[in-house]
Amino acid sequence: MTIAFSRRDVLFAAVAAVVASRARASDAPTRIATVGAGNIGGTLGTVWAKAGFRVMISSRHPEDLADLVAVGGSNLKAGTVGEAIAYGDILLLAVPYGALPDIAKQYGRHFPRKAAVIDATNPSVGRDGEIATAALRMGAGLHTASLLPGAKLVRAFNAIGAARFGQGGRFPDGTRIGVPIAGDDTPAIGYASSLISATGFEPVLVGNLDFGRHLRPGTPLAGEHSPSEIKRIAAGLA
Ligand SMILES: NC(=O)c1ccc[n+]([C@@H]2O[C@H](COP(=O)([O-])OP(=O)(O)OC[C@H]3O[C@@H](n4cnc5c(N)ncnc54)[C@H](OP(=O)(O)O)[C@@H]3O)[C@@H](O)[C@H]2O)c1
Repeated sequence: MTIAFSRRDVLFAAVAAVVASRARASDAPTRIATVGAGNIGGTLGTVWAKAGFRVMISSRHPEDLADLVAVGGSNLKAGTVGEAIAYGDILLLAVPYGALPDIAKQYGRHFPRKAAVIDATNPSVGRDGEIATAALRMGAGLHTASLLPGAKLVRAFNAIGAARFGQGGRFPDGTRIGVPIAGDDTPAIGYASSLISATGFEPVLVGNLDFGRHLRPGTPLAGEHSPSEIKRIAAGLA
């Protein structure tokens, strides 16, 4: 998989680098690892690396990620899922929802030590089967928490097309696009917010982890909305 970056992206990366360096100055955890390096994990991992964060992307086949690593530059490397989970202070979950139980079983003991675990996954019955039905019933936020007890989970990046995160975070008229966040742990929400800002989008806290049930494709919060629209929609769902 290759990702092309336009001149606008280069400009955005320069701005994001400033944001990122500020985040580094105030927030100690800066090593980011993605569990999954497909559409969403590969895109965000590359954007964050270009913005100045140290990032390891991962999958079961890290040898296939050389193209992405070449795009991301010297801040980006690829590893196995186990290597990435050991590496990251902040983890991004970016795998099919049905992969989470095995990941939790194999590596779950490491998750409580992480500063934040950003859950970009979505349960999809057609793709993930029974576990998706259970997660949709409980709400994806609480369901992922039940798989990863002790993790400082934040739901974010769930329902905007992955490719958009490589294109800055603005509508054609220049106004910013919001990314809703739901979580219970204040520092973890702060780290996730910094990483949303580093993509050029605006973080919008909409509720606790339980409210994270509304952060998935097919809900009113899905898609691209301004921060004020997100707040208005979220208020109607509360
Ligand atoms: N696509 C989007 O626009 C988008 C936007 C927001 C959220 N999401 C959500 O993000 C998640 C990933 O979506 P995606 O579109 O990025 O999927 P994808 O392109 O298919 O990528 C999935 C990644 O997960 C890895 N993977 C699959 N099974 C795994 C396992 N059992 N253990 C470890 N790694 C595994 C895959 O690599 P290997 O097969 O090589 O291991 C691949 O790197 C989904 O839950 C999706 O709903 C997607």
